[in-house]
Amino acid sequence: MAAAVAAAAAAAAATSAGRPAEGLHSSRVDDPGSRSLWLAAFADQVAGCTKCALAQGRTQVVFGSGNADADLMFVGEAPGFHEDKQGVPFVGAAGKLLEQLLGGIGLARDDVYIANVLKCRPPGNRDPMPEEIEACESHLWRQIELIQPRVVATLGNFATKLLSGKPTGITRVHGQEQEVTLGGRRVLLYPIYHPAAALYTPRMLEVLKDDFARLPELMGRKVAPPAPVYVAPVAAEPAVQLGLF
Ligand code: URA
Repeated sequence: MAAAVAAAAAAAAATSAGRPAEGLHSSRVDDPGSRSLWLAAFADQVAGCTKCALAQGRTQVVFGSGNADADLMFVGEAPGFHEDKQGVPFVGAAGKLLEQLLGGIGLARDDVYIANVLKCRPPGNRDPMPEEIEACESHLWRQIELIQPRVVATLGNFATKLLSGKPTGITRVHGQEQEVTLGGRRVLLYPIYHPAAALYTPRMLEVLKDDFARLPELMGRKVAPPAPVYVAPVAAEPAVQLGLF
């Protein structure tokens, strides 16, 4: 156990910048028992992040919470007032609605993993800025790589645009799953409206419930392995070269 913690901490430190090394997709990360250790070690590291100016105004980093072995991961926008104080994502009104919606499909918070695009609260809950997203995104990639979810449900525009890599907004793509490669694995990306959008709009709540209702089916769906990478054969050395040895 101690060796696993030390390995996780060392690897977390080694992979702090950008996408982690492929080697870390080893049996250690694939072993469900050690995923939470790796995630905890990575959370410790991110707790001291100063990659963008939001570090100056935060109470604490809101890394993410839930089940490190979850098949379903949600990605929201950024911590708000309550999240910043408590260090846990989605604990305010939108979080209560998220819990209700999860309950509607027979799941609880502890069954899923919840994270945000930004790990620190933007002042006054303003929208994330492009440079903040860019500074923070490697943390999210690493979380996805460690958790290895089957389905990543993006809540609202910011998470959807970042994880799809496309500028198309949530109104056009909500409820439409697509296979993408995230964290080195094929996953189903499933954009849905942000629960905050449905807090005061009953019509939106119905759309959100309908989109949630499809999650169990998506979680059971088989996702194709990544297409094999074609490596061109290297031309054989001329015989005359071989003769030199
Ligand atoms: N709380 C979060 O943690 N994220 C959001 O996107 C909204 C509220």
